[in-house]
Amino acid sequence: MTQDELKQAVARAAIDYVVDGEIIGVGTGSTANFFIDELAKIKHRIKGTVASSEATAARLAGHGIPVFDLNEVSEIAVYIDGADEITAAGAMIKGGGAALTREKIVASVSKQFVCIADGSKLVEVMGKFPLPVEVLPMARNAVMRRLASLGGQPKLRLKPGSEQAFITDNGGELIDVSGLAITDPLALEAQINQIVGVIAVGLFAQRGANVCLLGMPEGVRKLTF
Ligand code: 5RP
Repeated sequence: MTQDELKQAVARAAIDYVVDGEIIGVGTGSTANFFIDELAKIKHRIKGTVASSEATAARLAGHGIPVFDLNEVSEIAVYIDGADEITAAGAMIKGGGAALTREKIVASVSKQFVCIADGSKLVEVMGKFPLPVEVLPMARNAVMRRLASLGGQPKLRLKPGSEQAFITDNGGELIDVSGLAITDPLALEAQINQIVGVIAVGLFAQRGANVCLLGMPEGVRKLTF
């Protein structure tokens, strides 16, 4: 099975977690895109969605699925999204697709977080995937120095094929920190959140996943936390 087929399988399996008549939080990335395409087939069963990025909002709207502003919504039944790395305890690195801040906000108001990923994303210790940190542009260098003092190698994310900084949906910039062995994700998340100028860190430990559906060649493996 290809990686895309594994992603498609977990996207299909995630439909079982969609709650009829409710608002569904929808993540960002290639796995989330497969989920959106599956959700379109049962769109009549839900009230609508809250999107974690402009790209996701556009894809949902393209399928004719209602997209609500989070400020119009008091409760989200379930949030479904991919991950860049996930541990057996349900902590994740997210933000490879640049949407970590909105993903964190939508996840924080959702009753359940269902992570969908191909099996390669399951790791013992996170950090091989560079940890994304969204920052206010004026604080970029100050935050990079602080992140370096934590033992990582921070690098500003650039627009593909350009020397200019990548700008997020929120007007922030992204610093990708490589070389970290994240043995205590909860503590590191709290520590990075304390750095002035940080908008959000792509560590999801305080609000991790409740369920993870992992695409394996032998089928979808379910982890619950
Ligand atoms: C976007 C994310 C994605 O969930 C993460 O990057 C995984 O993406 P993909 O499903 O394409 O592997 O956090 O900000």
